[in-house]
Amino acid sequence: MTITRSRIVGTGTYLPQRVMTNAELAAKVDTSDEWIVERTGIRQRHIAADGEFTSDLGTAAARQALAAAGMTPADIDLIVLATATPDQTFPAAATVIQHKLGMTSGVAFDVAAVCSGYLYALTVADSMLKGGSARTALVIGAETFSRLLDWEDRGTCVLFGDGAGATVLRAEAGRGTSDDKGILATRLHSDGRYNDLLYVDGGPSSTGTVGKLRMKGREVFRHAVTNLSEVMGETLAAAGLTAADVDLVVPHQANLRILEGTAKKLGLDPAKVVVTVDRHANTSAASVPLALDTAVRDGRVKDGDLLLLEAMGGGFTWGAAAVRW
Ligand code: UT7
Repeated sequence: MTITRSRIVGTGTYLPQRVMTNAELAAKVDTSDEWIVERTGIRQRHIAADGEFTSDLGTAAARQALAAAGMTPADIDLIVLATATPDQTFPAAATVIQHKLGMTSGVAFDVAAVCSGYLYALTVADSMLKGGSARTALVIGAETFSRLLDWEDRGTCVLFGDGAGATVLRAEAGRGTSDDKGILATRLHSDGRYNDLLYVDGGPSSTGTVGKLRMKGREVFRHAVTNLSEVMGETLAAAGLTAADVDLVVPHQANLRILEGTAKKLGLDPAKVVVTVDRHANTSAASVPLALDTAVRDGRVKDGDLLLLEAMGGGFTWGAAAVRW
């Protein structure tokens, strides 16, 4: 049987030049490098420059992913951008990226699922490729979370950073077996009962302001390990695989303790977990494609490897994807 699979054929990233260390933060708020490293694993984060927008970060990452795929913007007929920090309330920042890439055709739109955004965008693009409404997609996660932070709230301002990651997806023929190359299965969830544990206290329809990020961190943490391990197991089962088949976990990078706790729950060797939270902090929707590109470029991702991507964020939203490389 021949079926359509979406294969990731290129990855790219962009990180703003400015690096902010924990020591710099400790000079602004009542925190310390020791607390941040011990409780989160974060050592530094990148911060976008004045006048540098989410669409700029996303465009730079997209260009690198296209180069890695040996493609040009003319090859793309779909852009799905995951972001919670678009340049403007509208238009969709994906259309700004489309324009910056010099494209005048195809479909471009944003997906809002905060830290799970890349998994949502990947799932939407995968469905469109499988359904035949697109052939080659740019799936991007790009964020400027520094613009949403309350720099006086030590409980949140130390956790986030700016960045972008991009992937090129191409529709290819598969046999419908778990050794096909490409996305084997994706699973998404949301539960709006937890809206008030991680949110922004503003918006166009409520306050008319952008607002600042608010989080009850300990409660988010409690849900994260359970939700993530469940959806990872569910996704593997949907692909006809088990945790023993996983070569590399590419997780959302919120907290090193969450990454370790989730791997432990699934019985996975921590050495199989890609960690970038130390250098990037939590970049929301950008973190999974940033981690993926890091592992691709440092040679950890090998032909035929089984990758398990996962994320959880505000909403709550959470999801995972099993990808054969
Ligand atoms: O990406 C979306 C998903 N987001 C997440 O997954 C985030 C999940 N949550 C977390 O990662 C952790 O809960 C945090 C890193 C946010 C916090 O770590 P925690 O171990 O849960 O700490 P806590 O909130 O229970 O706070 C412990 C103490 C408190 O002091 P008291 O009340 O014990 O005196 C906080 O006030 O640490 C204090 N604290 C800090 N101290 C120094 C909180 N933030 C800081 C800080 N520096 N930056």
